[in-house]
Amino acid sequence: MKHLLSIEQLTASDIGEILQAARQYKQSRGRESSLPLQGQTWVLIFSKSSTRTRVSFQVGIRELGGYSLFLNASEIQLGRGEQVKDTARVLGRMVHGAIIRTFAQLEVVEFARHSAIPTINALTDEEHPCQILSDLFTIQEQLGSLPGKVITFVGDAACNVAVSWIFAAARLGFELRLAAPPEFQPPPELLARAGGRVTCLEDPREAAAGAHVIYTDVWVSMGKEAESADRLKVLRPYQINQSLVRCARPEAMVMHCLPAYKGQEIDEETFEKNARIIFDQAENRLHAQKAILAWLVGAAPAS
Ligand code: CP
Ligand code: NVA
Repeated sequence: MKHLLSIEQLTASDIGEILQAARQYKQSRGRESSLPLQGQTWVLIFSKSSTRTRVSFQVGIRELGGYSLFLNASEIQLGRGEQVKDTARVLGRMVHGAIIRTFAQLEVVEFARHSAIPTINALTDEEHPCQILSDLFTIQEQLGSLPGKVITFVGDAACNVAVSWIFAAARLGFELRLAAPPEFQPPPELLARAGGRVTCLEDPREAAAGAHVIYTDVWVSMGKEAESADRLKVLRPYQINQSLVRCARPEAMVMHCLPAYKGQEIDEETFEKNARIIFDQAENRLHAQKAILAWLVGAAPAS
């Protein structure tokens, strides 16, 4: 039984297979030659807000022949204290796969363990693997290949998106630079466990020097709202703006997983100048997640 819970659990060959399938799904949209989810129902259980992840999964499941059921976690018994392992054992008897957005990574791990159906992490406090697989696809589309590229993440380098980037760097041979204040650097034990070419820096200009990609995410992730005032103050020097972009390669791409808070992690001008790539990133969630679904059920399109 395959799951997608963390980038850490994927091999370079798994990632290669998913990225290849994403390319094919993008090329053949509307002319899919097979419907690997035909007759299947996949459930989405979300404890946090979502626009891109929810819509791209629901549309993707339909395009692969399946049916999706969206459950707001607060409206099912899980929200009133029913255990994850019991919810998993019930749903595992009724549906064919689960896509979960929640707080603790342990909850998706536990759901996968007890449900006996393929389970996808659609964002936890610890990781956002679907986002990073989509972004790897976008970078490949634009730059051709990943080895030898320099990707600079600027902002909260301990957040879920940054952690998934760290695990991706360890698998795919690109250089990852993280620019963040000390309190938003990833834990040393996580870096040691991941391996790969990952450098942590406090100076965003040094981190951006010569980069192919400058990437950011919100400064206040879902669930961290109580820390907003402190975060906005401490992360202020880590905004992606034209002055920072000038430190990177002249053709560098600016990427953002969205939603964006303009004037915080990115300024309006830089966002608009890079809007084509940023919205390609958003669109590619659909193609990459169709590839993830097909990979999980053992039906990725042949190359
Ligand atoms: N990037 C992303 O996951 O967006 P949503 O929160 O809208 O799903
Ligand atoms: N780090 C952000 C990602 C949003 C897609 C959050 O967890 O809110």
